[in-house]
Amino acid sequence: MDAFVIEGGRRINGRLRVNGSKNSALPIMAAVLLTDEPITLRDVPDLSDIRNMVRLLGELGVVIARETDTAGRPIFCIQTMDERASHARYDIVRTMRASICVLGPMLARRGRARVSLPGGCAIGQRPVDLHLKGLQALGARITLEDGDIIAETPPGGRLIGATMFLGGANGSTVLGTANVMSAATLAKGTTIIECAACEPEIVDLANMLNSMGARIEGAGSPRITIRGVETLRGVDHTVIPDRIEAGTLMCAAGITAGDLILDNCPLDALMAATETLEAIGVAIDPIGSGDDPMRRTCRVTRPGTLRSVQITTQPHPGFPTDLQAQFMALLCLAEGNSVVTEKIFPERFLHVAELQRMGASLVRQGATVVVTGVERLNGAPVMASDLRASAGLVLAGLAAEGTTTINRVYHIDRGYEALEHRLASLGASIRREKMTTESVPAG
Ligand code: EPU
Repeated sequence: MDAFVIEGGRRINGRLRVNGSKNSALPIMAAVLLTDEPITLRDVPDLSDIRNMVRLLGELGVVIARETDTAGRPIFCIQTMDERASHARYDIVRTMRASICVLGPMLARRGRARVSLPGGCAIGQRPVDLHLKGLQALGARITLEDGDIIAETPPGGRLIGATMFLGGANGSTVLGTANVMSAATLAKGTTIIECAACEPEIVDLANMLNSMGARIEGAGSPRITIRGVETLRGVDHTVIPDRIEAGTLMCAAGITAGDLILDNCPLDALMAATETLEAIGVAIDPIGSGDDPMRRTCRVTRPGTLRSVQITTQPHPGFPTDLQAQFMALLCLAEGNSVVTEKIFPERFLHVAELQRMGASLVRQGATVVVTGVERLNGAPVMASDLRASAGLVLAGLAAEGTTTINRVYHIDRGYEALEHRLASLGASIRREKMTTESVPAG
């Protein structure tokens, strides 16, 4: 098992290009199941979650070749060669919840899908009832057997367009919207999804599907209309940059009082985060005019001390839950009391106890944490527990005095490509070490 060893106190300085988005790439890769024509995907990041999706698609008859373009960026050349398989097995699904994304596309195209129910998750309960509700509204017959979801199209072999409300207790669902929207592209008739997720990853998926011949309107708003078509064709699509990687790097510059230029930065998708950073005292200045608001260049600096703020996570365009842990790390060093409330995953606070081990002053009550700024954090051995919590610990380690060892960084490898190399290229002292079994804490 690998660990990161960080010597804190070095400023993050330099220039970096933001990678393609994990959370966009995953449902987009699943959507290749909707056609047997060739698909080219560009800027898919090299992550363990992506490798798991490649493995899953391989079991479902999809052949994927990885190449690089002239700039050295990855290209995935993808084609479905065999459409007989329909079972996404537990031993892959349990490694990655986003496997659920294959359910809608496989059902719509193959008439049947069997996908293992994803189990529990470190960030709390993650039910899939809304995914199933949406597919059932399209006429799917769904049963549960041996821990698997079995979905079949209605008699006639095609899903049927329908109007549905897809909101739950905590608002819209991102992957649920992706699943149902993808499936509805091949349904007979028109589908309306009300309370659809508005995340930029949904817009990216809809743009790709429309380039394949789908007829989707309203993606990015809470009401998406999909007029079903008979077939979809191949496409060449570039995945949007990762707003969470960008936001994490901004926090890295902020927490170390660094000076960072980010290229390929999706500022248009980061307004809640950048406005909060400005309020905290981290300046985000776009450079040049830039044609594409999702691919800008910007400079991140911290002119003075950090100030406390209140943050409440919300569905997009509100403050993203996937940046909550990273901002909490930053607020640990801000003057005064900050209040962080988690409205998407109310249990997503595994970083709190670890930050406390580094000297942070945090009081949690339910889904709210009060952060009282301290003058310094101290390096300590800590445990990565989920992807974004771990990113928060890396940030804390960059700013802490002394050495921070973060165990179990496989969580980080799920969502950040070569994070240690990227931060080291910006002046951080961070290295990966193999931990022996004895040196890994129990639990
Ligand atoms: N929910 C339900 N029923 C459902 C689905 C979701 O009640 O059927 C609830 C969830 O429990 C949660 C809320 O709805 O309270 C929102 O969950 P959502 O379905 O939107 O989450 P997701 O689609 O499973 C994606 C990202 C997550 C990100 C969330 C919220 C991917 C692969 N995952 O998950 O990303 O936190 O949206 O923005 O896109 C991460 O990258 O670290 C990560 C966890």
